[in-house]
Amino acid sequence: MAGKVLSLLPPSLLAAVGLVGLLLLCVPTRDVRELPALKYGIVLDAGSSHTSMFIYKWPADKENDTGIVGQHSSCDVRGGGISSYADNPSRAGQSLVECLDQALQAVPKERHVGTPLYLGATAGMRLLNLTSPEASANVLAAVTQTLTQYPFDFRGAHILSGQDEGVFGWVTANYLLENFIKYGWVGRWFRPRKGTLGAMDLGGASTQITFETASPAEDPASEVQLRLYGQHYRVYTHSFLCYGRDQVLRRLLAGALQTHGFHPCWPRGYSNQVLLGDVYESPCTAAQRPQAFNSSTRVSLSGTSDPALCRSLIMGLFNFSSCRFSRCSFNGIFQPPVAGNFIGFSAFFYTMDFLRTVMGLPVATLQQLEAAVATVCNQTWSELQARAPGERARLPDYCAGAMFVQQLLSRGYGFHERAFGGVTFQKKAGDTAVGWALGYMLNLTNLIPAEPPALRKGTDLGAWLVLVLLFAAMLLAALVLLLRRARSAKPSSAI
Ligand SMILES: *[C@@H]1O[C@H](CO)[C@@H](O)[C@H](O)[C@H]1NC(C)=O
Ligand SMILES: *[C@@H]1O[C@H](CO)[C@@H](O)[C@H](O)[C@H]1NC(C)=O
Ligand SMILES: *[C@@H]1O[C@H](CO)[C@@H](O)[C@H](O)[C@H]1NC(C)=O
Ligand SMILES: *[C@@H]1O[C@H](CO)[C@@H](O)[C@H](O)[C@H]1NC(C)=O
Ligand SMILES: *[C@@H]1O[C@H](CO)[C@@H](O)[C@H](O)[C@H]1NC(C)=O
Ligand SMILES: *[C@@H]1O[C@H](CO)[C@@H](O)[C@H](O)[C@H]1NC(C)=O
Repeated sequence: MAGKVLSLLPPSLLAAVGLVGLLLLCVPTRDVRELPALKYGIVLDAGSSHTSMFIYKWPADKENDTGIVGQHSSCDVRGGGISSYADNPSRAGQSLVECLDQALQAVPKERHVGTPLYLGATAGMRLLNLTSPEASANVLAAVTQTLTQYPFDFRGAHILSGQDEGVFGWVTANYLLENFIKYGWVGRWFRPRKGTLGAMDLGGASTQITFETASPAEDPASEVQLRLYGQHYRVYTHSFLCYGRDQVLRRLLAGALQTHGFHPCWPRGYSNQVLLGDVYESPCTAAQRPQAFNSSTRVSLSGTSDPALCRSLIMGLFNFSSCRFSRCSFNGIFQPPVAGNFIGFSAFFYTMDFLRTVMGLPVATLQQLEAAVATVCNQTWSELQARAPGERARLPDYCAGAMFVQQLLSRGYGFHERAFGGVTFQKKAGDTAVGWALGYMLNLTNLIPAEPPALRKGTDLGAWLVLVLLFAAMLLAALVLLLRRARSAKPSSAI
């Protein structure tokens, strides 16, 4: 008996080796290979309310592959956005030091010199540049002063246009999800059939919508043509300045002061002292600014938890009355019908996540979203606090934020129920944050070639085939041996 078991050992081993070999060959090589030399890149995302630093990394020998660049680490700069230091620019530079020191640790020392470092500022600085070009130049000079003191390869601090912000967010999302091009396990590049994903970004001071469209844009300002990996893309994009979350809240405050004297979107039982300077100093509230006001005056404002009034206050942010194109989203801005699937990130994600996980409300359909918003906006302050004990600081504004997102998507952009089914809300793809920062770096470092990558693995293909055949032969031989043993064993066991 022991002999029989022993005699089965060699073919079993052979089969095991063959099987393991085949399995190993099927695992994508990028996962099992020893890590090659890594390259790094750093982007400071200088938003209106805060700055984030992202450190990206990628294997040096594959820098033209899609989906290869990922997030190494990130750091949230303490304090406000760089535009909030307009009165004291040197502090804008100083605010970045803690994160930059962290980058010195995160990137290996021998890589410091070759690591590109970018600072991109968005709508907060666009607004500052509108009100005071000099102040915005001073802030950029101050952060440049700080950034050049580090050993990294600093490549400039710039204000992105709204169009760039939208397109780079779209590039990031589709790059991370490998929608441009994919490396198949048989060693070939192919273009995925699923098409690209539209991108929706909601920041503090602006919001962007970007998606691939088949028809030429009626307004050339909203169209961007891209060539990525040999493929041509016609992309619609628009950035709405003053439609970011913080500016919307500010505009609602101005509206509430002007027309109601109370805040219909704030919960009943909540009240706050509003500093008029805070409300009216932004260019976004210029139209509602009274002729004369004392900017250090505080006005007390109370919430009334009134979903219907809150909705009409928010609808006042959208102007549907004129459109000189065949169709518009709002404010006379051209927009083709939304097409394909979308990803909503940044504050779109945080808002939906609050409704879903904190409030426990379903938001899979527009109808559910509308009901969820009505529920949140109908909560009293104590009910809301009981539901979300850890969220105190932003809690009174979730109704307004959620109502705005719902109105923007359904009325503003024109998502109907079916199109809304194709929208996912997420902040990350894998371990990498979705936002404009990665797309910005990919573009500035030329990590996305205009032409498709050569079939580099073509030479590997022969060796790969030989190995597959070898392991398959081993497996086959083992099976034949086992079968023979089994046959020769049968008569004896029958006795
Ligand atoms: C990436 O592409 C650029 C331009 O197409 C080329 O010069 C570079 O050598 C490529 N890098 C790698 C690692 O293939
Ligand atoms: C500020 O705005 C002006 C006018 O749009 C533009 O020419 C300038 O480049 C902007 N400044 C920066 C630093 O981007
Ligand atoms: C503005 O308000 C502050 C505090 O309420 C007061 O001290 C100041 O005199 C006022 N300024 C003007 C111009 O009324
Ligand atoms: C909407 O836009 C049109 C055209 O720009 C303007 O005439 C009208 O006053 C705006 N309506 C509101 C309510 O702002
Ligand atoms: C709001 O809540 C009250 C109870 O607090 C309830 O009677 C009312 O029906 C709710 N309204 C909506 C629109 O949900
Ligand atoms: C990316 O960079 C290239 C230059 O390398 C430029 O022509 C192109 O317009 C950029 N793409 C975007 C979306 O800005």
